[in-house]
Amino acid sequence: MVSLKGKDILHGNQFSKKEIDTIIKTAGYFEKALKKKDSLNLLKGKILATLFFEPSTRTRLSFETAMQRLGGGVISMASAQSSSAAKGETVADTARTVDQYADVIVIRHPRIGSAKEAADAAEAPVINAGDGAGQHPTQALLDIYTIQKELGSLKGLRVSLVGDLKNGRTVHALVELLSLFGAKLHFVSPSALRMPEAIAANLKVKGIDVVETEDMMKAASESDLLYMTRIQKERFEDLSEYERVKGYYIIDGDFLGKLKKKITILHPLPRVNEISPEVDSYPGAAYFRQVRNGVFVRMALLSMVMGKALD
Ligand code: CP
Repeated sequence: MVSLKGKDILHGNQFSKKEIDTIIKTAGYFEKALKKKDSLNLLKGKILATLFFEPSTRTRLSFETAMQRLGGGVISMASAQSSSAAKGETVADTARTVDQYADVIVIRHPRIGSAKEAADAAEAPVINAGDGAGQHPTQALLDIYTIQKELGSLKGLRVSLVGDLKNGRTVHALVELLSLFGAKLHFVSPSALRMPEAIAANLKVKGIDVVETEDMMKAASESDLLYMTRIQKERFEDLSEYERVKGYYIIDGDFLGKLKKKITILHPLPRVNEISPEVDSYPGAAYFRQVRNGVFVRMALLSMVMGKALD
């Protein structure tokens, strides 16, 4: 019996295959339910607090949409400047405070480990919506849900992860989940933005086939899925280094023409210039469908951590 009741969601490595299956099934249930009804009453009377110390469009709004579709309420802190963090309050004290108001807390913060600090301080379940260049586990779960829908299976996929693998918290979480399904992974990045050695080494210990390369065309020609990521300007100490790598990988009509095969393209978004808008009408371009799936997966997670999972 799988239960996430009362659990924090902090890291991609915390999930079993069985838990992922249950999250996918529950998200699928909510996707179908929302075709018949605008909202459900599963979390009526419950309050979600969203604490965003870094910018967000998708993660914050999809969590808030998910809670409202489940019949619950939302309180929100949309910026560090508008909260007592601006007066020097710690993450732990903020979490302990918000714990007095809310039944579940979603936090995004620029520092690795901050969501864990909040979770240690609060009784309510805490969900990591991105801790600096650390982890973004709920994005990875919606990515997995999208892959299952788009490709029909999670088993033995050949996946190219492209771009800023050093700072990309979405890829750090996603590879943990993909590793449970025996994926073959191509890490495609400029040498300065390689996947952190600890993550790559851990995958190899688990027996995952990992190829590191700078050649996106070759990796894509051997893959079922291209997972593009943005070069994260805000994480660079030296902006001249950002300028050097910012246009390194671009998917456009020319690239897809030369690839000569159909491929599924995901991106956690926002994009800057790494996917040309002309690609949006390509049948395999699934990144806006991926955005929509975020609501169903976050409905699943909220209902499960609140102990209101379906039978
Ligand atoms: N994918 C993602 O985390 O997007 P936001 O930064 O807009 O939340």
